[in-house]
Amino acid sequence: MDKKQDWTQPEPMWRKDADLPDFPALDKAEHTEVLIVGGGITGITTAYLLAKSGKKVILLESDQLLNGTTGHTTAKVTAQHGLIYEELVHHFGLEKATLYYQAQLHAHTLIERLIHDLEIDCNWTKEDAYLYSETKEGAQKLEKEYQAYQTLGIPGDLVDTLPFNQDISKALMMSHQARFHPIKYLTALVNEITRLGGKIYEGTEALKVKEGEQLLVTTNRGATVTCDQLVSCTHFPFYDGKGFYFSRMHAERSYLLAIEPERPAPDGMYLSIDEPKRSIRTAEHEGRTVLLIGGENHPTGEGRDTRFHYRALEEFAAETFGVKNVLFHWSAQDLTTLDKVPYIGPITRKNDRVFIATGYRKWGMTNGTLAAQLNHDYIMGEKSLFHEVFKPARFKADPSIKQFLAQNFDVSAHLVEGKLELVGNRPESLKKGEGGIIQWRGERAGAYKDEEGRLHVLDTTCTHMGCEVEWNSAEHTWDCPCHGSRFSYDGAVMEGPAKQPLLKIALSDTKDVDFVPTETEQTHEPSSDQP
Ligand code: FES
Repeated sequence: MDKKQDWTQPEPMWRKDADLPDFPALDKAEHTEVLIVGGGITGITTAYLLAKSGKKVILLESDQLLNGTTGHTTAKVTAQHGLIYEELVHHFGLEKATLYYQAQLHAHTLIERLIHDLEIDCNWTKEDAYLYSETKEGAQKLEKEYQAYQTLGIPGDLVDTLPFNQDISKALMMSHQARFHPIKYLTALVNEITRLGGKIYEGTEALKVKEGEQLLVTTNRGATVTCDQLVSCTHFPFYDGKGFYFSRMHAERSYLLAIEPERPAPDGMYLSIDEPKRSIRTAEHEGRTVLLIGGENHPTGEGRDTRFHYRALEEFAAETFGVKNVLFHWSAQDLTTLDKVPYIGPITRKNDRVFIATGYRKWGMTNGTLAAQLNHDYIMGEKSLFHEVFKPARFKADPSIKQFLAQNFDVSAHLVEGKLELVGNRPESLKKGEGGIIQWRGERAGAYKDEEGRLHVLDTTCTHMGCEVEWNSAEHTWDCPCHGSRFSYDGAVMEGPAKQPLLKIALSDTKDVDFVPTETEQTHEPSSDQP
């Protein structure tokens, strides 16, 4: 680890060693029985299951397949979703907590069955999963969680040591979990979708839905799709349908390194419950064993210099395993619902044509697969034991209301504070490749100076509901702390719920130094899904 690491230009490892086919953009009107929007694990598995059941399906992806959250995952296939079961028993009761666990097992079994039936070579490896803590309080929490395991019949054990250089107070093991290569697995499902007659379009963003006799979906390219039913498998549902999902979830970013360790990589998958969190698992890359080290979670748009998080993970990896080489680094964004249980099912209580799947709280491999199965069952008219637990229209006063109020109060604070905050740098103080908040005519603006020295200056008001976006120095993006929208350095939407780009501020000369803004380059209305 002697060379200085460049923490910009993140790149996930998974896409490097998979062979995903390309698909064209949609440029004509199409009709289908079921339209699936979003090309991650949820969308692809949903399209596969429905095509297998004889439905005509179309899958739309705004970018490239598997380039979103699924492409940035740790790919642990586990029902050990952090500390959750004691809380689920407490808030939902024994029956629903049991169903939550069984639903994860169902997803695990489905993945395993597909790997077997379709003979998919995706490094599927059975391993135990561990939660661990270094503190006395953490050990008590793990003991309580273990009691919940015993009550729910979850196979596991409490242990006092881990097989690597880490002092712990206690660890909680869940046996018979698994890890795999998500892109290799999903590439096989993509090939199956097309073999079964399903159609896939990339570079095609679904924008709006009109609910008439049929559903009419318009895309960014002007082409339309009519369909009988629609499944939104995008991170934030691209169509809110008056479900107000932006106010019912919060977004967090986390970071991952793939390293070549100096000491042997341990078997098993690990997650600390202390802060800052650390996630550890082994993987295979180009014939070598590598370690994935993750953690450093923080609410979107509220991190410090984001390169700090990569450095912190590298230091942890160096102390714990030794680092020969950092091969890849990347970050991910995850959504958590008010009660930590994903929203899967009809978008609103009475809607039987539009379905959603979101809010996986980082556990997308099992939850995404589960969502595909549950929405498949809704569409095929098959009842599932698990529908009730995950349906988005559920209402549970505790802890939902408290969190709802706290989160929305937080949003108000960001609205007000962001506007009043006048920080900043003069634009000429930015170096090439740097961005941040600057002062423009006495007001707050955002600027990024690209490698050619051109300034890209933006109004930092998020186009979703008006919070102030913050600069993400590692990703070179503008991130919104309120509901997790993300924008590229020049303002284009990378992740919703925002649908409109940030407003650009035109400069008379954007080449090095002279910063003489003249007029705004464009104006637009706020996004139509504002309440
Ligand atoms: Fe909602 Fe920015 S994402 S205000």
